[in-house]
Amino acid sequence: MNKARRTALGAAAVLAAATPVAFSQGRRTRAAEGASRPNSPEERRILEVLADVYRNHRYLSVPEEDGRLLRVLAESIGAKNAVELGTSTGYSGLWLLLALAKTGGRLTTFEIDPGRHAMARANFERAGVGHLATAVLGDAHAEVKKLKDTIDLVFIDADKEGYLDYLRTLLPRVRAGGLVVAHNMASPTPDPAYVNAITTDAALETVFLNMHDAGVGVTLKKR
Ligand SMILES: C[S@@+](CC[C@H](N)C(=O)[O-])C[C@H]1O[C@@H](n2cnc3c(N)ncnc32)[C@H](O)[C@@H]1O
Repeated sequence: MNKARRTALGAAAVLAAATPVAFSQGRRTRAAEGASRPNSPEERRILEVLADVYRNHRYLSVPEEDGRLLRVLAESIGAKNAVELGTSTGYSGLWLLLALAKTGGRLTTFEIDPGRHAMARANFERAGVGHLATAVLGDAHAEVKKLKDTIDLVFIDADKEGYLDYLRTLLPRVRAGGLVVAHNMASPTPDPAYVNAITTDAALETVFLNMHDAGVGVTLKKR
């Protein structure tokens, strides 16, 4: 191992030891890589709900840095129509909604568990972005087939064995220049068929980010 890598790993270990560990999907969450700072009362309200959901986690959600990544991706492509598989209580959805409130976009998010679906809806409302979100209760494999509009960004974070089915169903609806973002590309071990599909198709360009934690696959549908 070279010196730079040893130093980086050492720094990560120190940071992990010194910062709170939340109940996230990955091996650990480092919440101290700089905070999101609100630049409007609307943004402050969403960030406050995000912090509250994060503090009071009872269900798995993306680590904070993956949430912030979702926001950066959605906002930078000017997403107008984002689709999420696996709402849970709305943590990752709120990060997407932070972006969509700026881009004039909307989120459609799918959850199979009625209790989590209800909690997500309540979280969207108290964050002031309920009007930007359509939370669908049901099996996403069946429900996404009803989507008709062009999609700018898909976020896959539901049943891990279902990723390939979601990709096959939704990729034709994603616009050229749109993104398919997949959670848990490092941990737990992703479906190799999904990884193969996003890394061997010449119509796609995929990078893997935040692989020190749960890992995120970011796939561009090429123009
Ligand atoms: C890891 S959690 C999602 C976390 C969420 N994205 C977040 O970061 O806040 C996965 C969720 O997918 C839901 N789920 C699993 N299979 C599903 C299916 N077939 N359709 C819809 N939701 C499903 C589970 O009930 C669970 O709430």
